[in-house]
Amino acid sequence: MPPTTSYFLKSPRLAFRTWTLADAPLAISLWGNLEVTRTLGGPFSESRILQRLAREIADQLTFKLQYWPVFLRTNNEFAGCCGIRPYKLEDQMFELGYHFLPQFWGKGLATEAAQAAVSYAFDALGLAILYAGHHPGNLVSKHILEKLGFRFLRDEIYPPTGHLNPLYSLARP
Ligand SMILES: CC(C)(COP(=O)(O)OP(=O)(O)OC[C@H]1O[C@@H](n2cnc3c(N)ncnc32)[C@H](O)[C@@H]1OP(=O)(O)O)[C@@H](O)C(=O)NCCC(=O)NCCS
Repeated sequence: MPPTTSYFLKSPRLAFRTWTLADAPLAISLWGNLEVTRTLGGPFSESRILQRLAREIADQLTFKLQYWPVFLRTNNEFAGCCGIRPYKLEDQMFELGYHFLPQFWGKGLATEAAQAAVSYAFDALGLAILYAGHHPGNLVSKHILEKLGFRFLRDEIYPPTGHLNPLYSLARP
């Protein structure tokens, strides 16, 4: 059971908190899921997933942001992650992302979570512009970004996968 008192952000159906080292089982359930990581460069070994968890925790300490773990407000069930992470720090670029467990797909949860994370990034963190990308075949992610108001900028190599991905941006309103 996650510590519900530590939720720092809520949307109608979801609550966000930050990752801790005790969340290794949740991280493995998400980033060890082949359907989730199919277009993210997976499959990932357990040690790689734990490295990713450590990096998320470090990002929160350094930048006050990460791909936060997200839980259903009705029963505190872990659903996935959504948030912001450094993309190209030398250019002060931060990217939006969302990874949900397959049983939660198709319910509008990623869109809802992304809307909350974007508002938090602009209003609470004071970011002026957000970036996002997706695997060229991930039309669901493309659709979500366009619904959120992101605009296509250019295709560029995405460092985590080495693939040419479309890059989008959204400026603070
Ligand atoms: C991508 C992902 C987050 C989507 O989550 P989700 O909760 O199912 O997304 P939502 O329900 O909020 O929105 C899906 C939208 O895509 C639409 N959609 C579904 N299939 C589609 C397709 N083949 N082409 C285009 N749009 C499609 C849905 O109709 C919905 O749009 P609508 O609300 O306007 O009807 C989820 O599939 C996932 O975690 N995948 C693995 C990780 C990943 O690829 N993350 C994205 C890269 S950061």
